Amino acid sequence: MEPSFWHERWENEQIGFHQGDVNPFLIQHWRDLNLPNDASIFVPLCGKSLDMCFLAEQGHQVIGCELNQQGVEQFFLDNNLPMQTSSHGTHPCYATEQLAIYQGDIFTLSEEVTRECSGFYDRAALIAWPESMRHAYVKKLAALLPSGSQGMLITLDFETDVISGPPFAVSELWVNQHLSEFFEIQQLACIDVLADNPRFLNKQATWLNEVIYRLVRK
Ligand SMILES: C[S@@+](CC[C@H](N)C(=O)[O-])C[C@H]1O[C@@H](n2cnc3c(N)ncnc32)[C@H](O)[C@@H]1O
Repeated sequence: MEPSFWHERWENEQIGFHQGDVNPFLIQHWRDLNLPNDASIFVPLCGKSLDMCFLAEQGHQVIGCELNQQGVEQFFLDNNLPMQTSSHGTHPCYATEQLAIYQGDIFTLSEEVTRECSGFYDRAALIAWPESMRHAYVKKLAALLPSGSQGMLITLDFETDVISGPPFAVSELWVNQHLSEFFEIQQLACIDVLADNPRFLNKQATWLNEVIYRLVRK
C-alpha cells in the first residue's frame, strides 16, 4: 500500500491489525529458532506491536522500522517507556533500553541499521503488501538481513475474494516461490484461526489459516 493509506489509518485510529496481547504463536514458537538471548532482532513494519516487548523481555536488542510517527510515539507512551530521539539519515530513531524504532519508509532504511541483526520477526508485514508490491518488500527485507540470520514469518491465507486487503492472503506456494531465492524455509505450524476473526466470519469465509514459518537468510 502507499504510505498515505497507512498514515490515514493511524490518523483515524483504524488500526485493527494491532493486537492487545503478545501474539500467542510468537510465544509458542520463538524458542524453536534457538537464537541467543542477546541476538539483535529486526522487526519490519513494526507498528506499536507488543511483540517487540516480548522480544526485549527475552533479552534481545530489538530494532523496528515503522512509517508512521504517531504509531512510534504511541508505542513508547502506551508502554510507559522513556525514550530518546536521534537522527539517522532520513529516519529519526526513537530509542529506549534494548529497543530502537526507526521511523520512516523501510525502502529507504540503510543496511547499516540492521547490520548486526541475527534475527527478525515479520508479523502482518509481508501480508500488508498487495501482490504487486510484495516481491519488492521481500527483496528489501533480504537486503537488510545479514546472511545466516533467521527469523519468524507469520502469514494469513484465505480465499482471496473474501476481503479486499490488507491483510492480503499469502499462500504457502507464494512463500516458496518468492522467498526461496533468499531464504531457507521451514513451516512450523498452520492453524485455522477463523473462529477468532469476526471480520472474516462476517464475510462468510470458510477457512482462515495463520501460518508460521522459520526462515534462514541464505
Ligand atoms: C498491518 S500493520 C502491522 C504492524 C505490526 N507488525 C503489528 O503486528 O501490529 C503494517 C504497519 O506497517 C507500516 N508501514 C506500511 N508501509 C511501510 C513502509 N513502507 N515502511 C515502514 N512501515 C510501513 C504501517 O504504518 C503499519 O503500522
